[in-house]
Formats: sequence, C-alpha cells, structure tokens
Amino acid sequence: MRNTPSTVQGPCRMKVKVWGNHEAMSRAAAGCIAREVGRRPRLLVCLATGSTPIRTYELLGCRARQAPALFKQVRVLKLDEWAGLPLNDPGSSEAYLQQRVIRPWGVSQRALVGFVSDPKQPKLECQRIQNWLARHGPIDLCVLGLGSNGHLGFNEPGRMLCPVAHRALLSPQTRAHAMVSHTAVKPDYGLTLGMAEILQARQILLLVSGAHKRRALKRLLRGEISTQFPASLLCLHPRTTLLCDREAAMQGPAHMT
Ligand code: GLP
Repeated sequence: MRNTPSTVQGPCRMKVKVWGNHEAMSRAAAGCIAREVGRRPRLLVCLATGSTPIRTYELLGCRARQAPALFKQVRVLKLDEWAGLPLNDPGSSEAYLQQRVIRPWGVSQRALVGFVSDPKQPKLECQRIQNWLARHGPIDLCVLGLGSNGHLGFNEPGRMLCPVAHRALLSPQTRAHAMVSHTAVKPDYGLTLGMAEILQARQILLLVSGAHKRRALKRLLRGEISTQFPASLLCLHPRTTLLCDREAAMQGPAHMT
C-alpha cells in the first residue's frame, strides 16, 4: 500500500492529496481529525454521512478505544438529514452518526446537534440550527463527501444556492442514494446546512473515493465555480484539503508532483 500521497496541481486553491486506496485515504483523514481534536479538545466538527467516511469514522473509533478521553469534549454537528425519515430509521443520518460516531467515539449525547427529520415546521427547525450555529460556531472542522452530481450535504445543483440551513428539494440522483435504498417511499426533501455555513468552517476536509466519483472529481479540479456544481464553491475556501483515492483521481504521472 502506498503511504505517501501524490499532490495534484490544479487551478483550484485547495490542497489535493491522492492516496493509493480507500484505506490509505481514510487513515490520512482519521489522522487529520485526531490531530485537530488533540489541538482543540472542544472542537466543533460537522460530519457528513454516506459511504465515503465510514472507514475514517471507524478508525477514529479504534483510537477512542485506546484513548477514551480523546473525544469527550468534542461537539458534533450533523451536516444534513433526510426529511420525513424517522430519526431511528437505519437510513437516517442520525442513526448513522449514533452508530458510527457518537457511541464508538464516546461523544456525549448532549454534544450531538442536528436537524430532527420530521419537523412540523421545517422553517423553524432550520432557523433553530442557524441560530445554534450563529451562537456556537463557526465550525472548526467540516468533513464532507462529494455527491456524484457535485452536491455537498443536500445543497443540490441549481440556479441559486441557499446560504444557510434550509429544506432542499432532492435530485433524482440523491433520492437513489444507498442510505435510503431500503425505504419504499424515497424522501423528496432533505434538511441541510447551507453553503455559507459550510464555507465559514475554519477547516474543511473533502473525501472522495471510488471510480463512480471520477467525473465529479474531474469537474471539481477544473476549478470553475458554479452553483450548478456546489462543491466548486470550496475553491473559494482558504483551508480546504481534498483527500481522494487513486480510483477517483485516475490521474497520470504528469498530473502529480
Ligand atoms: C449524501 C449525503 C452527503 C454525502 C454524499 C456522498 O447525499 N447527504 O452528506 O456526503 O451524499 O455520499 P457517499 O459518500 O455515499 O458517496
């Protein structure tokens, strides 16, 4: 396994590190998150769900077993949630974070903040998260995955993007995501942090893995900023690191240093 990454040069200002495989990428991501927690024990970390960061979170669970105090003071903000899916549904972001982060890392239940999935008044629920973030933010470290259509959280491609926490209409591609493959009725909406809240994070880690992300990653690395490809806004952020695996990058030696 390769244990030093290649660096891709591109017009985008983010640092891009290409690891040999998903395992190596996950180890690098886990190392980076653990380092930040070590520096700032009360870190406010905003976490994406999905398949890409699973191994990263698992590796951090292993670290927590060896050092049970590591995540004791950390605060976790849920990036997004499927609207209409009960919080205890195995496909919800809530269930995902409980199972893969909160319990294994030993984070206190009170330290998890996020949208409820079935608010009677979604606007008020989004306002609640906006207010919480205005009071307790900004996010110290935001861990993101890349949607294959360029979405971040549930900020879907469109003519306009909403800067703050909001209810978003999901694209057919997002409704086909593996997290909700078991549900008979697919959620039409998601609740998500907005792009301004994400971009205000002190540091961002974007994880991209697998051949199915190649097209999206290639587009991102072109460095053209468009609301039709929300992840491209990360090019405006001063401290974003993109960690990907070779499968996703599929770059020849000429592109690497
Ligand atoms: C989902 C989630 C995002 C996640 C993204 C990528 O729609 N809402 O938070 O980052 O898609 O998921 P995956 O890592 O499974 O490709």
